[in-house]
Amino acid sequence: MAVEFSIRDLLWPRRTILNEVGIGPGMRVLDYGCGPGSYVLPAAQMVGETGRVYALDMHPLALASVRRLCARKRLTNVTTILSDCNTGLGESEVDVALLYDVLHDVENRGPLLRELHRVLKPQGLLSASDHHLKGQRLATLLTEQCLFRLLRKGRWAYDFVPVDI
Ligand SMILES: C[S@@+](CC[C@H](N)C(=O)[O-])C[C@H]1O[C@@H](n2cnc3c(N)ncnc32)[C@H](O)[C@@H]1O
Repeated sequence: MAVEFSIRDLLWPRRTILNEVGIGPGMRVLDYGCGPGSYVLPAAQMVGETGRVYALDMHPLALASVRRLCARKRLTNVTTILSDCNTGLGESEVDVALLYDVLHDVENRGPLLRELHRVLKPQGLLSASDHHLKGQRLATLLTEQCLFRLLRKGRWAYDFVPVDI
């Protein structure tokens, strides 16, 4: 997976992707299904000391890799979360949730989308992309429960906003 990610990250520069999403200083970012942490480092640098990145994954090895990365880069604004759905975060705590190359892997999407909706601020953003799902399919899966609506199709990812329920 690491080699695949290295090639992908060369073709799809992570900082450019996160810039397009609008990540900036002081934000709280949830990287759901963070894997070994491709997006964690640029996100942590972009949110700075006043922000925080929550790196969540269901695999302990992925989080161990994220923790090693944080130690190497001396990042103190990253919290790892071991989970396959619930984040343990408070309601409306998150400015941006990243869901990159994860959705195809999730069988029971309802609880995940409800959790993302719960933790996102009303004006927050869910940014998603998935190499295993065509754009229209991705948009349908994320909007069919009426918890999110498509805001824009960016160059790199689809951005969704929470629906007021
Ligand atoms: C293909 S990797 C993508 C990693 C990262 N988002 C990226 O794009 O570099 C998918 C990750 O999602 C995690 N994952 C899949 N289903 C999950 C779930 N229900 N809850 C939490 N993590 C999940 C996997 O463990 C894996 O690390």
